[in-house]
Amino acid sequence: MVVGDEGSFVGSADEPVMPYSDDTGDSVSPNYFPAKPVSQYSGAMSGGAVRDNWEHGEAYERFIGRWSSLVAVKFLDWLDVPGGLRWVDVGCGTGALSEAILDTQDPTSVSGVEPSAGFVRAVTQRLGDRATLHQAPAEDLPLLDGSADVIVSGLVLNFIPDLPAALAEMKRVAPGGIVGAYVWDYGGGMDMLRVFWEAADEVDPGGSMDEGRRFPLCRPGALVAAFENAGLDDPEVVPLEIATPFADFDALWAPFTGGQGAGPSYLASLDPDKQAALKESMRDRIQTDTDGSISLIARAWAIRASL
Ligand SMILES: C[S@@+](CC[C@H](N)C(=O)[O-])C[C@H]1O[C@@H](n2cnc3c(N)ncnc32)[C@H](O)[C@@H]1O
Repeated sequence: MVVGDEGSFVGSADEPVMPYSDDTGDSVSPNYFPAKPVSQYSGAMSGGAVRDNWEHGEAYERFIGRWSSLVAVKFLDWLDVPGGLRWVDVGCGTGALSEAILDTQDPTSVSGVEPSAGFVRAVTQRLGDRATLHQAPAEDLPLLDGSADVIVSGLVLNFIPDLPAALAEMKRVAPGGIVGAYVWDYGGGMDMLRVFWEAADEVDPGGSMDEGRRFPLCRPGALVAAFENAGLDDPEVVPLEIATPFADFDALWAPFTGGQGAGPSYLASLDPDKQAALKESMRDRIQTDTDGSISLIARAWAIRASL
């Protein structure tokens, strides 16, 4: 079933943003298995010169991870699978979805797979030995054939350079099992990103890396087609919405200055004048309540299918 069809944190909020680099080399717990020597992972890019940085867990959490945790709970409710299963979280990032699985699904095991060394450090600190963590990409899962029952992925599918390879890997690891994922509705209902990219288009016409354009996979029809093309059975898509309230405009803006993820990476690539112009354009587009607070909605599209 398809519902709808279109389908320092770093410095102060007023300072120009610098590209983030993290080579802290924090220690990791024994359940961290580096599979590949990836020191700074950058996500897929389609048509832009700016790399999506995924490295610094704290800045990512302040930007998107905290909202992903809220969507994760709704997603797992909708997925509605029994307890006692073996779960894999692909592109687990800082652990939003893995933590929700551990807290609500009574799993036999949870394995997180994530290519960024910095995020593996962050999720290791967050989950300790509650999960088994691997540093690897979705296209090359370091897991045995038939070793899982449910494979999930939160806010990742659009960043995977070779999605068919990733879906084939999921099928290998959990044949006959369940796959479920969610992606932001970049083109429409993810308000904070939508307004950011509209402001970016204004101050940087032709240069903006609007995720609504970059990622066709943020629409229900495209998600279903990708799953069907991979030979997955009975794909089903639903919208999931959460409230994303901010105390004031600075509380909305500041997380964009952390340099992690697509929007903040792009912002960090602009010169200080353009960064300031983007901020003011975004401020002009935002409606505030009488007390200065801002009430936005974040919509994700969730998909599930049989492997
Ligand atoms: C928006 S974050 C989502 C992280 C986490 N799942 C969450 O819900 O907060 C996107 C994640 O995709 C990861 N990623 C990028 N390319 C990937 C690939 N080829 N395979 C697996 N994960 C990938 C990034 O490292 C990053 O952790």
